[in-house]
Amino acid sequence: MAFPKQVRLVEVGPRDGLQNEPEPIATPTKLELIDRLGAAGTRYIEAASFVSPKWVPQMADHREVMTGLTRRDGVTYAALTPNLKGLDAALECGVEEVAVFGAASEAFSRKNINCSVAESLTRFEPVLERAREANVRVRGYVSCVLGCPYEGEIAPAKVAEVSKALYDMGCYEVSLGDTIGTGTPLAAKRMLEAVSRDVPMGKLAAHFHDTYGQALANLYAVLEEGIAVVDSSVAGLGGCPYAKGASGNVASEDVVYLLNGLGIDTGIDLDALAASGTWITQTIGRPNRSKVGVALASR
Ligand code: HMG
Ligand code: MG
Repeated sequence: MAFPKQVRLVEVGPRDGLQNEPEPIATPTKLELIDRLGAAGTRYIEAASFVSPKWVPQMADHREVMTGLTRRDGVTYAALTPNLKGLDAALECGVEEVAVFGAASEAFSRKNINCSVAESLTRFEPVLERAREANVRVRGYVSCVLGCPYEGEIAPAKVAEVSKALYDMGCYEVSLGDTIGTGTPLAAKRMLEAVSRDVPMGKLAAHFHDTYGQALANLYAVLEEGIAVVDSSVAGLGGCPYAKGASGNVASEDVVYLLNGLGIDTGIDLDALAASGTWITQTIGRPNRSKVGVALASR
């Protein structure tokens, strides 16, 4: 299979990137990050997460973020909404797109959203229904597609089953999360082969974390299979609070550099993106995990 001509990047830095930070991050810092990412040409930004502030304190300012951001034409500002309470709050804040998040692992599902996989799917149904009434598109996530911090290996058939359930429910796209970054390229291909038998390739996205340094290799492998939507986080920020040891998502700068080299269009200004990565890591005092970002900053 040939590489896609265009890839849509889903920037998850303000959400996945910042949800796991040990120190509180000021709302204006989040808003400025979102604005800088939009200015760099990012067209899809996951800006907030309408989850319980007791579970994820870093996302407690979801209302302030969602209502405070400066909207740019052509940019989608999305938020996570695990249940109706989250969706209703997000709708009140004028969200235009939301995401539900499930898992291919029972143990992770319980740790992350406090219910079984089957219960989560039942919980998502009314979220999808209400979102449809409000004309808001819903993305679906499946976590632990290439391994689970509690269960270890995850069968591709299980990933396919949960992905299909989300797609059949009405999620316009299903993002496949290697939550703990244990995947390797052939495993990623095998998993994708199984899922794409049940969900069209054009409706799937790759959401790879880089804990073991495999994310770019895994992405290359799934791009070859036809994946054309990639989730990434500026400066490689992030991790999941319910997946111990999970480090950041693949860095957006590194993905854009790879795609540029493959002649695949993203519409993103790499220098401006890298500058936003330098800015946010210096502002919050974290290492910049983007190799490309660090190289560009030192020129
Ligand atoms: P629960 O405790 O089962 O829910 O949590 P509940 O309905 O029994 O409610 C308990 C309390 O939470 C109540 O408050 C509710 O009002 C409140 P109390 O009466 O105790 O004061 N509550 C809420 N508050 C704000 N917003 C809400 C909400 N819902 C209930 N939406 C729940 C269930 C899902 C809410 C909880 O488990 C939770 O918030 N989990 C968050 C998990 C999370 O955010 N994880 C990180 C994101 S997922 C991820 O990073 C993976 C991904 O990147 C892909 C990948 O990498 O694999 C997407
Ligand atoms: Mg993630």
